[in-house]
Amino acid sequence: MPLTSPLPASPLFYCVSHPLLAHKLSLLRDKTTVSKIFRELVAEITLLIAYEATQDLALTEVTVSTPLETISTPTLKDKYPVIVPILRAGLGMTESFLQLIPEARVGHVGLYRDEETLQPMQYYFKIPHNSQDSAYFVCDPMLATGGSTAKAIELLKERGIHRITLVCLVASPEGVAVVSQAHPDVKIYAASLDRELNEQGYILPGLGDAGDRLFGTK
Ligand code: PRP
Ligand code: URA
Repeated sequence: MPLTSPLPASPLFYCVSHPLLAHKLSLLRDKTTVSKIFRELVAEITLLIAYEATQDLALTEVTVSTPLETISTPTLKDKYPVIVPILRAGLGMTESFLQLIPEARVGHVGLYRDEETLQPMQYYFKIPHNSQDSAYFVCDPMLATGGSTAKAIELLKERGIHRITLVCLVASPEGVAVVSQAHPDVKIYAASLDRELNEQGYILPGLGDAGDRLFGTK
């Protein structure tokens, strides 16, 4: 079985499968896990998913002289991909991407879910100049109704961004369907496809409110 496989139900959704990832995700779900450990786990899980989610990055050849000879060898074609955390919870994933791609730039999209309507409300947007042709990685731990991530991707596309990958930790079937339908060109990577949403729009079994658990706000 491949480490990462698209689900038959949605060819755009890739559930990354690895024993360490499964183990860490169980710790993350545990309601007794405190914020410090929660933050560390989010970062570690993101590192494992990001490794898979960046597999489509294009390569080009450069000439390098080793101590023994000169060779043509691969290097990233796009030196400056862009990481876009959706505020707040996406911030917990950013450093892991930067560990893997230190030259990457970082944009920010500020969205929160209206508690009544569950609609995404925008309060911030900033992306790097001249980055239309860069590979973009939108990060948010939770893909619940899909409203926030679908909106973030829409805002990026309005600015001419056209190479977008979505990276989540936990996704719901509803969220995958909403994003896949709105953005059929965007691949979605996650560590788990959970069962369903409850009436308040929380993922079941999920891990609760990711932003609150990351930042200790509740
Ligand atoms: C959470 C989460 C996602 C969104 C997912 O953010 O981080 O951005 O909800 O829900 P959706 O798929 O139904 O849109 P929240 O709105 O709680 O804001 P926060 O990160 O500032 O806590
Ligand atoms: N946002 C979260 O942080 N958790 C959920 O389960 C749903 C939305």
